[in-house]
Amino acid sequence: MKFEFYLSDLVFKILFLDQAHGLKTTVLSYSHYLPRQELLPEKRVLLAPLLATVVGSDVLESQLRRLQPDLHLFGHTHIPIDLTLEGLRYLQWPLGYAREALRQCAPIHKSGPLKVFDSDLGDSAGGIPSHLPTLDVDWTIYYSKPNARDPNNTTDLADWLKVRLETLVKTKAEVEKNAK
Ligand SMILES: [Fe+2]
Repeated sequence: MKFEFYLSDLVFKILFLDQAHGLKTTVLSYSHYLPRQELLPEKRVLLAPLLATVVGSDVLESQLRRLQPDLHLFGHTHIPIDLTLEGLRYLQWPLGYAREALRQCAPIHKSGPLKVFDSDLGDSAGGIPSHLPTLDVDWTIYYSKPNARDPNNTTDLADWLKVRLETLVKTKAEVEKNAK
C-alpha cells in the first residue's frame, strides 16, 4: 500500500506572498502520520516494535522541508515527544486510548490540552510559547541528548520492557493453563 500526501499549492503561494510583503507568518502544520522515523523511540524500548514499520514518510517530510513550519504536530503512535531535527520542530501530545492514560499518555492527562499558539504573546514570539510541557516528557529529554539513538544496538531491551514482557508471558501461560 502506498500513502502519499499533498499540501495545497495555495498554502505555499499565500506564504510566499506574505514573505514577499515582509510579513512574518507563523506556520503550524499537522499530519496524522510521522514524517520521520527518529520521532519514534527505538524498537528495543517499544512493547510494539512493529510500529516502526508504519512510521516515516519521505513524501511528507519533503513537503515539510519546503513549507518550513514553525511547529509540526503529528499523531499516530500515541507517544508524547517534542524534538527539533535539522531545524524543524516536531511534536506529539496525544490523549491516547483509555488504557494509555495511566502509561505513556499520563503527562497529557495531568497537564491538559496543549496551547501551541497564543496571539497575546505578540509578534516577537511568533505566538508560540517558549516552553511547552512537551519539553518535559521522558522521550523528549532522552532523545534530545546527543547520540541518544544507537541504531547498532538492536538487542539491549529496556529494563521496564523486560519486566512487562515477562508479565505478559506469565499471563499468557496462565490463560492457556486455565483453558485446558
Ligand atoms: Fe494512526
